Order: sequence, then structure tokens, then C-alpha cells
Amino acid sequence: MFEVYEDCINELEKHAHFRFIRDIEKKDGKFIYIKGEKLLNLSSNNYLNLADNKELTDKFYAQVGYKYSLGSASARLLTGTLPVYKELENLITDLYKSEDTLLFNSGYHANVGINSSIAGRGDVIFSDKLNHASIIDGMRLGDAKFFRYPHNDMTALEKLLTRERNNFKNSVIVSESVFSMDGDIADLKKLVELKNKYNCILILDEAHAFGVFGKNGLGVCEELDILSEVDLLVGTFGKAIGSTGAFVTGRKILIDYLINKARSFIFSTALPPVNVAFSKWIIENELPKTFEKRMKMLELGRKLKSQSHIIPVIVGDNEKTVELCNILYQNGYFTLPIRPPTVPVGTSRIRLSLTADIEEKDLEKLCSIIG
Ligand SMILES: Cc1ncc(COP(=O)(O)O)c(C=O)c1O
Repeated sequence: MFEVYEDCINELEKHAHFRFIRDIEKKDGKFIYIKGEKLLNLSSNNYLNLADNKELTDKFYAQVGYKYSLGSASARLLTGTLPVYKELENLITDLYKSEDTLLFNSGYHANVGINSSIAGRGDVIFSDKLNHASIIDGMRLGDAKFFRYPHNDMTALEKLLTRERNNFKNSVIVSESVFSMDGDIADLKKLVELKNKYNCILILDEAHAFGVFGKNGLGVCEELDILSEVDLLVGTFGKAIGSTGAFVTGRKILIDYLINKARSFIFSTALPPVNVAFSKWIIENELPKTFEKRMKMLELGRKLKSQSHIIPVIVGDNEKTVELCNILYQNGYFTLPIRPPTVPVGTSRIRLSLTADIEEKDLEKLCSIIG
């Protein structure tokens, strides 16, 4: 009975696909400690250094954290909604000037819940080919027909819309704003134009942009001044905000619908109140102070030829990608090989993610090694 699993693991090992959980001793600012080695951490989503920040954590516990419990003991629709959940939802609604907001336990829960329920039998979803696995899993779980258009190819999307839109009742377009593995940015203005022209619901996942882009850190839609054009906007607290969880903000009718239909929301214990309070505290107290460091980080990303703080170094081959990671490791850099199925076959890569305390001089040796 277990042979099939053994064969699978052997096959993964043979093609340098095998994943394992690394033992990390500690993290301290931009550094990570593994087996006694101190390495520059280029694989973190802690973009603003707000997670594992001892000073900040102490301040939070002293000021507010001590009031909140570590477990919610119930789903939100049962007894899991204390005032702090609504306070954070209202804060997000006010910031985005949207109609309503709903918290999810993670970005994964949010995307699975939204994309499996928002379109049903007889409806259609158009999804960027490089959208995150959680969006794909959501679509797979639902009953709607879905098409995956070539990455950020607005001509291909419009062709699909012309051909298919009228064959369905409701239609949804879903995309990330900053793509998690490529660091490029979707043509959001064109997506808005297409959603209006073809009468679609537009869902944008700003997981990697929330807390990084925009005057107030609300994401790329804030920067482009198109917030009011997006029907549902997803953001996560586990990346730039340094906490955990996610939100979706947008039209009230859709939020009410998700409360009733999104199974990953309905059938899961709510986030720990202390995390909800931490996310709220960070957004209210720390995020407004980060404009300068966010802009500096994005400038460094652009210098490295990316549109964001995420820089893909595409190697292609699995073995060579792992080998490059090992060389970088030996030179004091912690990077991870990103391989299929996370990225398309033949595009294995190292995904460098900057954090605000990484400086240009930290990367000189890395650039010469990669070069
Ligand atoms: C674009 C995108 N959406 C959603 C998620 C999932 O978010 P979470 O880690 O909060 O589950 C990720 C995580 O990496 C992501 O990259």
C-alpha cells in the first residue's frame, strides 16, 4: 500500500523536486540562522520587518496584546466574533473606502473560499495563468467553468471574453496585482476597462502589494487610484503586516454572499484574537510610518530590473537552480529554489524578495555570483 508513496518520493528526489522542512534556529532582522550560519534572508515576505521584531512585539504586548486571548475557540458564525474582529474589518473598510470587509484565516482560505463560491454553475471565471495556487484551487472546487489566459496578456484575455463571455451568466476576472513568483504587476487599468466593457466582476489579490505599494500602503490599486473599480480586493496580514490572516474588501452584497457561501470562512475556527488585534495595531500605528522605507525598497527592486520588491532569477533547470541556491548559501545568502508546480515547468528560479532593511551593498556579492 505504501509503495506508491515511496515511488512518488523517489521520483521527486530524482528530479530535484523533493521538498523538506528546514530547521531554522532563529531570525533576527534581515538575517536568518541555520546550523550555526548567519545568512542574509532573501526569502522572506516580512517586507517591512514587522514580524519577529522583538521591540515591536514587546510594545504590542505591553500596550494591548495582554488583553487578547490566543484562541478563538469557535468559527465566526458561531461564538467566534469578539469586537476586535469587527473593529479590524471596519478599519479596512474605512481605509479602502469600500462598502464592507470580511476577515479570513489566511490568504489561502480567502482565495479558496471566494473563487469556489462567487461563480457557480453556468458562470465563468477568467484567471491569469500565473495566479496563485489558492486561486486555482478555489476555481477547481467550484462549479463555474474557468479559463486561464496567458500571463498578463490583455489581448488574449479580450479575445477570450469576446468568444466566451456571452455563453455564460455571471463572469469573473481574477488576477494578482504584484505576482508572487515573478514580481511583475498586472495591467490593472486594462483589467478595469475589460471588466466594465464585458460586464464582469473583478477580483484582485494584493497579497504582495498590501503594505508595500500606495501612499497609505493599501496596494497597487491605491497607487493607480482605481480602488472604487475593484469589486473584491484581497489582502493578507502574513506578509508585509507581519501578522497572519487575510481580508477581502469590496461590495457589501458580495461580502454578505461570502459570509453565507464561502466554506473556508464558515467551517473553520476564527483567527486568534491576539493576531487580529496585532494586525489592527500594526495597520493603525506602524504602517503609516513606513512610506519612506517602502519606497526605498521598491527603488532597489527596480534597480534590479523588477517592477517590485520581488525579483525572479530564472534559471530554468531544477538541478541548476538548486545548485545556484547552494552556492549562494555558501556565500552567506539564504535563497530558495522555486520549482514546478509552484512555477511552470522549465522556469525554475530563485525568488529574491527584498525586505526594507536590506541595502544595496548587501547584494553586491550576490549580483556578481548570479552574473
Ligand atoms: C498571491 C498570493 N495570494 C495568497 C497567498 C496565501 O496567503 P497566506 O499565506 O496568508 O495563506 C499567497 C501566499 O504566498 C500569495 O502569494
